[in-house]
Amino acid sequence: MSFFRPTIDTLRPYVPGQQPAPGTRVVKLNTNENPYPPSPRALDVLRQLHEDRLRRYPHPRADEFREAVAEVLEVEPTWVLPGNGSDDLLTMLMRAIAGPGRPVVYPTPTYVLYRTLAEIQDAPVVEVPFDDSFDLPVGELAAARGALTLVANPNSPSGTAASTEQLAALAAAVEGVVVIDEAYVAFAEDDALRLVRRHPNVVILRTLSKSHALAGLRLGFAVAQPAVIEGLAKVKDSYNVGAAAACVGAAAIRDVAYTVDVAARIRASRSRLGSALEAMGCHVWPSQANFLLVRPPGEDAEGVSRELEARGILVRYFDEAALADTLRITIGTDDEQTALLETLRPILDATSAATG
Ligand SMILES: Cc1ncc(COP(=O)(O)O)c(C=O)c1O
Repeated sequence: MSFFRPTIDTLRPYVPGQQPAPGTRVVKLNTNENPYPPSPRALDVLRQLHEDRLRRYPHPRADEFREAVAEVLEVEPTWVLPGNGSDDLLTMLMRAIAGPGRPVVYPTPTYVLYRTLAEIQDAPVVEVPFDDSFDLPVGELAAARGALTLVANPNSPSGTAASTEQLAALAAAVEGVVVIDEAYVAFAEDDALRLVRRHPNVVILRTLSKSHALAGLRLGFAVAQPAVIEGLAKVKDSYNVGAAAACVGAAAIRDVAYTVDVAARIRASRSRLGSALEAMGCHVWPSQANFLLVRPPGEDAEGVSRELEARGILVRYFDEAALADTLRITIGTDDEQTALLETLRPILDATSAATG
């Protein structure tokens, strides 16, 4: 006897990356957090938060934040819906759109939560494999006729990005909703925001977790035409964004100069880390995100990640066939990257001595 729906009994739950207790001395390159602090303006707002903001319920649509997003992106506030991280918006999209006979389609490997959320809805799932270069399989994705098609762009864990032209072709070929999950877009060369004007089925998702160093605050948003925003708002939790998140997030998103500067530093570190790893014999996919997908020599990525962890360095290993020989490494500060490289070198030397 079970208390749960059969779907929940057999569900493989999403397993988040390891989060050591605050204060633990590790080099944490496993969950794509930003290594730099949030905007000082956002921190000032947090410090000066009036107690009434906590005593009262927040605005149900986090208007303060919504208006700040609209101003910065130059869209109307009716085109924006804030959420408790972009995960919350993914949940709303699935609740409102996916279900039995209403397929969820996405390329793999990608963000594993898509599968978990689709399964919770009892929706058919169509996973279209990427090839080794992670070129977006536009035709196959469109042919699957999803009620909901999701593309993380840049993709995780590959870091690779499809062109906006490819995404536009997908949006034009699909009748259902196409979600372009731009969690990592601040580190990329282009974004697809302009597609929402031309395509009533496109939803752009953004988060403040990576680019704005606010993963702990939990804040993201969707941008789409008002009819889609209204449909999603029907299924959201009443007060899905807290008052502290709304006002701190508004200050953070307005501090464009700070965010641009941090993203530029991360891109420069990404390029240095990629070159250093290639010099050590790793295959590194071209990344437009704040992490690198890396295939270490010796084919024992899991072993390498365990050896690194034993020496206080966390990177992400995914226990999935398509990723079995790879590691995803978040871009850190230059000191963190030096620690990673100095620790990794003897591990790889030992592995190649053992296998060679
Ligand atoms: C592709 C992608 N989308 C969404 C998210 C969720 O981000 P948030 O912290 O906004 O819920 C992540 C987080 O790792 C991600 O990798």
